[in-house]
Amino acid sequence: MRTVRLFGAFVLAAVVLGVSACGADGEGAAGIYRTNGCSACHGADLGGGALGPALTWSEGDTVELADGSTATIDADYVERAIVDPSAEIVAGWEDTMPVASLSASEVDLLVDYLLAGP
Ligand code: HEC
Repeated sequence: MRTVRLFGAFVLAAVVLGVSACGADGEGAAGIYRTNGCSACHGADLGGGALGPALTWSEGDTVELADGSTATIDADYVERAIVDPSAEIVAGWEDTMPVASLSASEVDLLVDYLLAGP
């Protein structure tokens, strides 16, 4: 009987640990994206809307900027777009994106999330 109970506790611990580990990357970044208002402008599915462009590109794609130059989508560009939205403005848009208060690790999670695509 004792062994059975111990085994049950072990299984329960494994399930709890497994669930929280998943939450750290997948839902974690999506949650940060939602709770910081990103989805209000860029859409819950990253498809964009009236207030912000779609974020459906992939790493290596080219983005046209308002000053006529182009930028290549990579981790540096996406990070800069989040922490310093005024640094580069996407062509056809205004400098209206607010600076969110995010920790460095939240920014890293968001960059990975956005580069992974919808
Ligand atoms: C009030 C609306 C608004 C909110 C909130 C907002 N953005 Fe933006 N975002 C914009 C607009 C408008 C642009 C285009 C202008 C520019 O480049 O700054 C943009 C540009 C971007 C770009 C560059 C897109 C490209 O194609 O080069 C990224 C990446 C981005 N936003 C991510 C985010 C993330 C992540 C959040 C949440 C922390 C967020 N945005 C919150 C409006 C918003």
